[in-house]
Amino acid sequence: MLRIEALEKRYKTGDHALKGVSFTVQPGQVVGLIGPSGAGKSSLIRCINRLVEPTGGRIFLGDVDISAVSRSDLRKARRRIGMIFQEYALVERLTVMENVLSGRLGYVSFWRSLLRRFPQGDVDKAFALIERVGLSDHVDKRADALSGGQRQRVGIARALEQDPELLLIDEPTASLDPKTSRQIMRLICEICAERKLPAIINIHDVALAQMFVDRIIGLKAGEIVFDGHPSALTNDVLSRIYGDEDWNAQRKAQDEDAQDAAAVAAFEIDRARHLEQV
Ligand SMILES: Nc1ncnc2c1ncn2[C@@H]1O[C@H](COP(=O)(O)OP(=O)(O)O)[C@@H](O)[C@H]1O
Ligand SMILES: [Mg+2]
Repeated sequence: MLRIEALEKRYKTGDHALKGVSFTVQPGQVVGLIGPSGAGKSSLIRCINRLVEPTGGRIFLGDVDISAVSRSDLRKARRRIGMIFQEYALVERLTVMENVLSGRLGYVSFWRSLLRRFPQGDVDKAFALIERVGLSDHVDKRADALSGGQRQRVGIARALEQDPELLLIDEPTASLDPKTSRQIMRLICEICAERKLPAIINIHDVALAQMFVDRIIGLKAGEIVFDGHPSALTNDVLSRIYGDEDWNAQRKAQDEDAQDAAAVAAFEIDRARHLEQV
């Protein structure tokens, strides 16, 4: 379970990105996070994995206050959080299996991973996950030979391979076609329900979110202005959240989110890179 209490983020520039945000996500629940550009969505996601430091409030994952974990314990805390990004966040020259196994890098020793000697249990788990996401026929294919939807399935399996207690998912369908987007959203929501995983999805496609998630949180100017079942998200509520936001600004924000995701992914992929060096 994830519990966020009175979360504050004020940047050094003075921008007050999160103004006392509180909510709880139950096991198995998938929350769609929506809101206009500048609402604080990225800041929220980044505070939860401590890519930015909260300036107030608390973030509990289970019993652990993530916001209070020391820098040196951060690696251990982060491996409890699975991140899924836009589907380009894979190591291109590695196979499906190797990309999924890279989810274990937070656990196995450097030398072991360098020699690609993952414990058999890790490999067995990876096989099972690859099957679950529907890629059994592609285990040894290189990432750069996969379609966008298949790549995103690898990203999901990789996140699960690290045995996370929470999934943070940033624009998982931003560059997928509509049918593939629905398949990926369905897969994510089914898996969270099966594994009793709480998840937060930063998603700009409100209609798609409404189709699949259990709950939507609408952020505006650093505050929660809607928190409820997707069916309660009426046009009135939507215009309250989005106001007269112009859609060019929205598109620009999506590009920025993609860059954010790429930056975060680089952090993960860095860990995977040394697999390529042997
Ligand atoms: N690194 C940063 N330094 C200063 N201000 C920032 C930084 N990141 C975001 N902000 C500000 O915080 C607010 C929320 O931004 P952000 O979390 O990116 O919103 P969203 O992801 O919903 O577009 C905005 O006013 C933005 O300008
Ligand atoms: Mg953003």
